[in-house]
Amino acid sequence: MTINRRQMAVLAGGLLVLITAGTQAGVFNSKHNLGATGLNAASTFDGTREVCVFCHTPHGGDGAADAPLWNRNIDPRGFATYDQMGTTTLDAGVEPVGSVSLACLSCHDGTQAMDSMLNEPGSGRDVPGFSRGLWSGQAAAVGGRIGSPTVVTNLGKDLTNDHPVGIQYAGGGYALSNPAGPGYDKDFHPASSEISGVSRNWWVNTAGGTASFERTDMKLYTRTATVGGFVGEPQPYVECASCHDPHVDYNPTFLRIDPAGSQVCLTCHNK
Ligand code: HEC
Ligand code: HEC
Ligand code: HEC
Ligand code: HEC
Repeated sequence: MTINRRQMAVLAGGLLVLITAGTQAGVFNSKHNLGATGLNAASTFDGTREVCVFCHTPHGGDGAADAPLWNRNIDPRGFATYDQMGTTTLDAGVEPVGSVSLACLSCHDGTQAMDSMLNEPGSGRDVPGFSRGLWSGQAAAVGGRIGSPTVVTNLGKDLTNDHPVGIQYAGGGYALSNPAGPGYDKDFHPASSEISGVSRNWWVNTAGGTASFERTDMKLYTRTATVGGFVGEPQPYVECASCHDPHVDYNPTFLRIDPAGSQVCLTCHNK
């Protein structure tokens, strides 16, 4: 078979797409690529071709944030949490919005521009301390924020209509002094844990994979309880990144596993 010039061009184009997809997997190909190479025209900022910088910085990150090398201002004020809805079935302790959830909400609560960061790309462009909002307003939508308050991706400060976060796993019962938890629970599947560095980390194993923690397991986040059982002890909590991994492009909506058959929900809930 002979190939004409047009077919050749189509072939070459196809190959290019394949190669690009092969070398640039993960966050580059996701809605979390907010730079000039981003896929989502409604929420990209053309001032940089960097990708990680919207969330992480190699230097000058926020040491107090519960997300690594965090490059954004986090603001714990003014949230309404799920328990404030007054549900009668909830039996777990709910902590103030914190941990990794607060990092997600630094964009998803819709109050800060997405291109507002502590250490901007390039040299000498930072004001001393936190350069809050220096670039703000240059991205699309409400001054560079995540979108109008009517879109679901803008969760706002009212989290009473969102799956609870900062909530003890399984109604509580897991803690540093009781890592295996309360034993048989008719509502939740058991969590696993291991010591990592100075802390104990818990997670819920998904089908497939190994008994160790993998990023396709539902990760729980260790916090020190101020309410509920085992007050004062580190124990596992459900946070935004329990269900979502902000870097993955192989599942819809950054989920840690494919949500078909509600596997995300059924990993934790015994229903
Ligand atoms: C939209 C925000 C966002 C972007 C963009 C982003 N990250 Fe992250 N990253 C996070 C958050 C939030 C965490 C904390 C997750 C956790 O605690 O499980 C994290 C955790 C990490 C970790 C440590 C935990 C892990 O999952 O391995 C590494 C390493 C990392 N990111 C690297 C990168 C790199 C490299 C890029 C750019 C290619 C990038 N990230 C882009 C939000 C982001
Ligand atoms: C730097 C800002 C920023 C941070 C931090 C951030 N996101 Fe996002 N996220 C976005 C933008 C922008 C979109 C696209 C919004 C849209 O299209 O309406 C998005 C979209 C999403 C979506 C929807 C994806 C889809 O396919 O529709 C999910 C889920 C999500 N983010 C979860 C998270 C979680 C969980 C975290 C923390 C681990 C996080 N995000 C941190 C900016 C951010
Ligand atoms: C218990 C699991 C779980 C937790 C915790 C969770 N999410 Fe989600 N989230 C999901 C699932 C599942 C979807 C996909 C829903 C669908 O397919 O309609 C989703 C969807 C989203 C979307 C896309 C909404 C849309 O319909 O466009 C965003 C944005 C998002 N989550 C952000 C967050 C943020 C920010 C947090 C923390 C405040 C969070 N999520 C906590 C499970 C969770
Ligand atoms: C990482 C584990 C985890 C995952 C995944 C998860 N949940 Fe939950 N969910 C919890 C915990 C813990 C609670 C708090 C329950 C309690 O203590 O009463 C909860 C609470 C709830 C509640 C409120 C219960 C009440 O009494 O008000 C509903 C409804 C719910 N989850 C549905 C879902 C759905 C739907 C999904 C999938 C989209 C999902 N959950 C995924 C852990 C999880």
